[in-house]
Amino acid sequence: MTYNPSTSRYQNMQYNRCGNSGLKLPAISLGLWHNFGDVDEPQNFRDILHFAFDSGITHFDLANNYGPPPGSAETNFGKILATDFKSHRDELVISTKAGYTMWDGPYGDWGSKKYLVSSLDQSLKRMGIPYVDIFYHHRPDPETPLIETMTALDLIVRQGKALYVGLSNYKPAEAKEAFKILKELGTPCIIHQPKYSMFERTPEQGLLDLLADEKVGCIPFSPLAQGMLTNKYLKGIPATSRAAKATGFLQAEAITPERLNQINSLNDIANNRSQTLAQMALAWVLRQPAVTSVLVGASSSAQLADSLKTLDNLSFSEAELNQIEAIL
Ligand SMILES: NC(=O)c1ccc[n+]([C@@H]2O[C@H](COP(=O)([O-])OP(=O)(O)OC[C@H]3O[C@@H](n4cnc5c(N)ncnc54)[C@H](OP(=O)(O)O)[C@@H]3O)[C@@H](O)[C@H]2O)c1
Repeated sequence: MTYNPSTSRYQNMQYNRCGNSGLKLPAISLGLWHNFGDVDEPQNFRDILHFAFDSGITHFDLANNYGPPPGSAETNFGKILATDFKSHRDELVISTKAGYTMWDGPYGDWGSKKYLVSSLDQSLKRMGIPYVDIFYHHRPDPETPLIETMTALDLIVRQGKALYVGLSNYKPAEAKEAFKILKELGTPCIIHQPKYSMFERTPEQGLLDLLADEKVGCIPFSPLAQGMLTNKYLKGIPATSRAAKATGFLQAEAITPERLNQINSLNDIANNRSQTLAQMALAWVLRQPAVTSVLVGASSSAQLADSLKTLDNLSFSEAELNQIEAIL
């Protein structure tokens, strides 16, 4: 069936400027790490993409290795892009990354110019597009000189294969140095992608302040702690959940009795706010002034619908924040 996007798609989304760049991102962006691989159901992920775009989500986040198998999320996204979104490419911000293991041998991992340039070429081929909007270095490389990795990002932009560049999983000191090099090269870093949620607060130890100071955007990943910060695990581990799946990155052992106690207490606060726990967890991340957008995953349109309602209540009272802090 032909897909006709909703004509009201821009009415309910909030768009935030990404650092001091010209680019605006939706407050909620969709990631394709899980649920879009060859192991997943094509009609389901097609529905999720339609629902996302109909709801004003313009930003879709990929990486070379998303699947499984690695690369299949880009291929599957590319197929839907070529059909359903063909006339809407200029309404989309598509990102991809390289930095984790992608192919055998010494050139398919980490941060060399050799790896980044050829990986992006492969990603573009899989997605069937001439350029991405944002290309990230996925994780810092302790061996490759930072200048080489940053020069590769600059080259990629000059080649017209990406419009903007970003960094992911860089700690504050290495991020600061990378920002300096990129600025000098003339290709400023516009965005950083850290792991940040109520259960993973490392970015509060300097990274969020650095991004605010440097006016670099921030798009936290796994803001729902891969589903733990939702009502999904309150009554055990559902068979279809990420924690139960053989291909998921969330281990069932992570859901300890202590975690469940925290999740239950947080769920009570969310109920008092007339929100679901997922909505409260996303609002809690979005309350940080440095945060441009939260990068959620979803295994169904219904989950995404739940997450999108976050935007109805983004504010917290001092008392609520204190209660949450006491639980965390
Ligand atoms: N840069 C990096 O190193 C890096 C690393 C990881 C992720 N990322 C990016 O961040 C994106 C998001 O990561 P993530 O998938 O871990 O994010 P997440 O939003 O923390 O978790 C998503 C999962 O939570 C569950 N869920 C989502 N909404 C729900 C709701 N309303 N109610 C109940 N359950 C809900 C679903 O799990 P079920 O499948 O169990 O239903 C869903 O797959 C990725 O797709 C990727 O683009 C980047």
